Amino acid sequence: MEKTVQLYEGKAKKVFATTDPALVIVSYKDDATALDGLKKGTIVGKGAINNRMSNHIMQLLEKQGVPTHFVAEINDRETVVKKVSIVPLEVIIRNISAGSFAKRYGVEEGIVFSEPTIEFSYKNDDLHDPLINDYHAIALGLATREEIETIKKMAFKVNEVMKEYFKGLGVTLVDFKLEFGRLDDGSIVLADEISPDTCRFWDSKTNEKLDKDRFRRDMGGVEDAYKEMMRRVFGE
Ligand code: TMP
Ligand code: ASP
Repeated sequence: MEKTVQLYEGKAKKVFATTDPALVIVSYKDDATALDGLKKGTIVGKGAINNRMSNHIMQLLEKQGVPTHFVAEINDRETVVKKVSIVPLEVIIRNISAGSFAKRYGVEEGIVFSEPTIEFSYKNDDLHDPLINDYHAIALGLATREEIETIKKMAFKVNEVMKEYFKGLGVTLVDFKLEFGRLDDGSIVLADEISPDTCRFWDSKTNEKLDKDRFRRDMGGVEDAYKEMMRRVFGE
């Protein structure tokens, strides 16, 4: 299996075709964007950190019975994954108030919820990824009712596994975004990435932010936060 042509370049990753039609290669970049792409920058070392951390978590999830797109890590930045057609929904799970939730409902960050929440955004750059409910997603033909129920179940399971895992590393999992894909047989797998770009991680003792919010909010110490998460996960 070899890399052939580039299929797609996104904000944080490139995707290449391979000689096997069922597989693609994802290549993680150090580029970072926020505020709908308005804010652009580089986080040195991010590509390798996100690639390795995402692969580590996907393998952990597979062991716990969550099917993912992960196949094999090639090197620091590149991974072979199953080719999927992405369900155009961003699936967000929250355990603690933060970010757009805190803003939308006029509450402070840090309120611990009695149970996790789920919400969907319609992945559409022209519309700025608007919030969408499951009825609207079905009406627009973005997913079937059955697919949405599968996605919800998988997303809450991912939350349970990740919350426990990060707790053991002294990290509070505040919220995160998932994306799902369809394989050729129609089955749903977890796709995209799980990294400090797509999760809010707070140090369990100090509540220090160890994720992309440091970039989004110009807080400084961005690279150090990614490195610290790498150290917690891999001890390096
Ligand atoms: P939010 O509070 O801004 O809605 O973000 C919720 C979570 O989703 C947070 O962990 C960051 C992640 N996220 C992404 O991965 N991509 C995005 O485009 C956005 C807006 C959020
Ligand atoms: N990556 C998204 C963007 O470029 C937003 C984010 O992660 O905050 O707008």
